[in-house]
Amino acid sequence: MVDLYAQRRQRVMDLIGGGTAVFASAPTAVMHNDVEHPFRQDSNFYYLTGFNEPGAVAVLAPHHEEHRFVLFVRPKDLEKEIWSGYRVGVEQAKERYGADEVYPIAELDEHLPKYLEKADRLYYHFGHDQRLNDRMLRYWQRLLATYPKRGTGPVAIEDAGLLMQTLRRVKDSTELERLRRAIAIAAKAHNHARDIAAPGRYEYEIQAEMEHIFRLEGAMGTAYPSIVASGENACILHYIENNRQMQAGDLLLIDAGCAYDYYNADITRTFPVGGQFTAEQRILYELVLEAQLKAIAAVQPGAPFNEFHDAATRTLTEGMVELGLLVGDVDTLIEEKKHKAFFMHGTGHFLGLDVHDAGILRNPDKTWKPFEVGNVVTVEPGIYISPHYEPAEGQPQIEDRWRGIGIRIEDDVLVTEAGCEVLTAAVPKDLSAMER
Ligand code: GLY
Ligand code: MN
Ligand code: MN
Repeated sequence: MVDLYAQRRQRVMDLIGGGTAVFASAPTAVMHNDVEHPFRQDSNFYYLTGFNEPGAVAVLAPHHEEHRFVLFVRPKDLEKEIWSGYRVGVEQAKERYGADEVYPIAELDEHLPKYLEKADRLYYHFGHDQRLNDRMLRYWQRLLATYPKRGTGPVAIEDAGLLMQTLRRVKDSTELERLRRAIAIAAKAHNHARDIAAPGRYEYEIQAEMEHIFRLEGAMGTAYPSIVASGENACILHYIENNRQMQAGDLLLIDAGCAYDYYNADITRTFPVGGQFTAEQRILYELVLEAQLKAIAAVQPGAPFNEFHDAATRTLTEGMVELGLLVGDVDTLIEEKKHKAFFMHGTGHFLGLDVHDAGILRNPDKTWKPFEVGNVVTVEPGIYISPHYEPAEGQPQIEDRWRGIGIRIEDDVLVTEAGCEVLTAAVPKDLSAMER
């Protein structure tokens, strides 16, 4: 596993050439009223080190003769470890994480500047750790002040975050394994949810059983707060109260996924709680599914990132016009963003160590970057007709039978040589599979 991280670090080093890159771990778990909240490692730091502790800094200095990879870590402290857990410590970090040199984090001021002295650039992301941000600026300013005498030192700071956005866009085989594992667990939970949902049960019961499966199967927990939204609640995009008692005739929209070794699944399914769609639910479900399948077909290597969203938007807008929910010319409606009355979010995002994962979407000339083999993206169109829907000027009032229906179908899709692979295929979405 050390090799894997070494390979990733090498790719960063190839990109930064004569520069030095500094990456910080996430800060120590937050205390609220003396209760410690779970620690979540910084994704870039984890991607490059596999080191899962707070209070650490990683330095990549490709030009340094001996120490190309340096870690600063919390030292062993048996008393503190009794309270807040095991620490690898300075001695073991070297071997376990393949560092050329390891120092206690308290010695950052003393040792970090020497890895910057000969660098032509400093790569660092100014994040939430204001104290570290201040220190990095101070180191840099000191080196700049002595540049005229010494003739070396970083003449600029570049954002290390952007560098990582480029690297993390394409997933390597280890990442794909972890994503597949997260998705397999989430798929099991979704399939169970469909079995147990019934009129009279509460949304949180479904949530509880799904999250039970997440942990039971070895996931770290949820990838994001689970959305278990029945009836009109499905029209609230970020509904997380999950406290309503489900009724016959409701649809149930479940957007839930787990994190496995920090890699995330993100799946949405919508199905009738009582087993049968109403006529309106069925029409809209088929429309969303058609839009989703068309969007998935537009996910392929070389296709600009916007095309799958455009495919979904066009299909949904055509459908809304056919159903009389919108009136007008489809191109004009899309141009004027009128479809957003019922489909107000994007069709998908990269998925990986972060749920909304790293990856630059556009070129400087505003054109969209194309998909590449190894990208993982969600495809998640939907239709949400609020019970309180008021038409915009020039648009028709809608019949009450459409109100309160919310539908989203979300799959996780890997871009392959041949086009794409739906990683979440184990969770059915055909109309017939949604009914009982
Ligand atoms: N569940 C978060 C998302 O779909 O983006
Ligand atoms: Mn989702
Ligand atoms: Mn998503």
